[in-house]
Amino acid sequence: MAKKIIAVDGPAASGKGTLARRLAAHFDYAYLDTGALYRAVALTVINNGQDPSDTSAAVTAARELDMAQLTVPDFARALRTTQTGLAASIVAAEPDVRAAILAAQRQFGQTPPDGKQGAILDGRDIGTVVCPNADKKLFITARAHVRAERRWKELVTQDARLTLASVLADVEARDARDTNRATAPMKQAEDAHLLDTSDLSIEEAFAAALALVDG
Ligand code: DC
Repeated sequence: MAKKIIAVDGPAASGKGTLARRLAAHFDYAYLDTGALYRAVALTVINNGQDPSDTSAAVTAARELDMAQLTVPDFARALRTTQTGLAASIVAAEPDVRAAILAAQRQFGQTPPDGKQGAILDGRDIGTVVCPNADKKLFITARAHVRAERRWKELVTQDARLTLASVLADVEARDARDTNRATAPMKQAEDAHLLDTSDLSIEEAFAAALALVDG
């Protein structure tokens, strides 16, 4: 029987990662954070002393991407920084980088690990490009100010000098790059359900997401 696929897309700090993880736990499906793949490509380029806008360096890193690296603690921690996020949005705009990691994402959806009966992938283009035939599609969003404030609250615990204004500027820069790139831009699929989490608690957002998936 074909495995179920749920696509969860949306901008940075919309809550899509938290919701996708919780949905995966609820249904006992496998979960893939596809943003981590682009972050890993960007971090590999940076760790090699190269520039994320160096196309050939980024494409090489994408072709040689080793998924096992994502669970190495130091590497996993470095993936989450703002610097890596911004660099990820640069490498993600390169069509050959996207092409290099497309098959691995589709494979995850079609054959989820550990014999799971379904997979949840979160990202920017899951419903439009990676898994256009997904059984359910959600597009999670929130106002830019709300998203920046969520991110700032997380990050300020590590760097007390960080200002909300600078986080908002980063969020807006990433939104612009992810939305305006030519290849697989961030876009709500026509058949995706829209969920705005701006005024919802995590519990309320999860209940709403579950209702959309079950509906
Ligand atoms: O979701 P995130 O912040 O970890 O994503 C990091 C970057 O990767 C983001 O700027 C956009 C890009 N990305 C993408 O282009 N396509 C995806 N499916 C996932 C992420």
